[in-house]
Amino acid sequence: MKKRIFSGIQPTGSIHIGNYLGAIKNWVQLQNEYDSIFCIVDLHALTNPQAVLKMQEKILDLATIYLSAGLNPKKCILFVQSQVPEHTELTWLLNTITPIGELERMTQFKEKAQQFKQSINMGLFDYPVLMAADILLYQTDVVPVGQDQKQHVELARMIARKFNHQFGETFNLPEALIYKNSAKIMSLSDPSKKMSKSMSQGCLFMTDSPDIIKDKIRSAVTDSGSEIKYDPKKPAIANLLAIYSAFSELSSNQIEQKYKNKGYADFKKDLAEIVIKGLEPFQEKKKALDKKPDFVKKILVNGAKKARKIARKNIFEAKKKMGLV
Ligand code: AMP
Ligand code: TRP
Repeated sequence: MKKRIFSGIQPTGSIHIGNYLGAIKNWVQLQNEYDSIFCIVDLHALTNPQAVLKMQEKILDLATIYLSAGLNPKKCILFVQSQVPEHTELTWLLNTITPIGELERMTQFKEKAQQFKQSINMGLFDYPVLMAADILLYQTDVVPVGQDQKQHVELARMIARKFNHQFGETFNLPEALIYKNSAKIMSLSDPSKKMSKSMSQGCLFMTDSPDIIKDKIRSAVTDSGSEIKYDPKKPAIANLLAIYSAFSELSSNQIEQKYKNKGYADFKKDLAEIVIKGLEPFQEKKKALDKKPDFVKKILVNGAKKARKIARKNIFEAKKKMGLV
């Protein structure tokens, strides 16, 4: 039996190369080896009040991005979270065994609570339990995510262990799978912050035109000195090297050799070319698929059917163990 992977992204706007290198690009490889399920987590997106706007458009866009990046509905299940109601049902069951103290510890919650000081909604607090439900509902073995989600996967594992202990063996214990090089792509304008949609300045989007890519890379901040060399004390060049390496499949060492007697200008010029080339097949496919929304929607409907079949069986087990059926 193949091991199962599950992962998801929120439909909250454009996807950047952090999402691509930290998540989707790896999924495209993984779908060949694993029993794979990839989700568009619209219920998670609802915790951000602005996300509610144009939700259907954003869902369709993210689905189109998944497909254009190389996820193949013949090899994996692609679906929208809210189309499988068992996710919310399991969330409630898991809520009843999740200690509040654990949720208060979550870094993402603490950050978001800072950001939305006046209006921290309950969903933001419960976000990691919904994510645990996503993962456990499919008896997931492996969860490929960026570094920032590791804590949430560990919480899902803790909840599964607690459930099994209290009600008998029910859930698989999931493990996070994190790719070292691209686990955390940083902002091009501030390498101390992670690249994110909310900081459009230093953010390279998957759909940026070649000119914009050149511009953004040319104006990316650099460290003091002029050497192209990995140094943990020089976060800007370390980040550009990580991006170069991920798009070229060359190691940091090989890239350092290549630019031994060259400066930042040459390096950045080549980096822009490599990123443009790397994104070209994706961008072409996306343009074509954007014209076929019905085709994409059908894939999602089919995906939800397949996902629901698995979900139904597992929610029944969980309810039975808890004495509800
Ligand atoms: P989000 O955009 O927060 O929904 O994240 C979707 C996926 O992309 C998750 O697996 C994240 O861990 C990953 N991700 C988000 N931002 C980055 C980043 N800057 N570098 C690497 N991975 C990221
Ligand atoms: N919380 C994840 C993020 O912000 C998205 C997500 C929701 C997820 N459910 C998941 C990722 C289940 C992996 C598995 O990136």
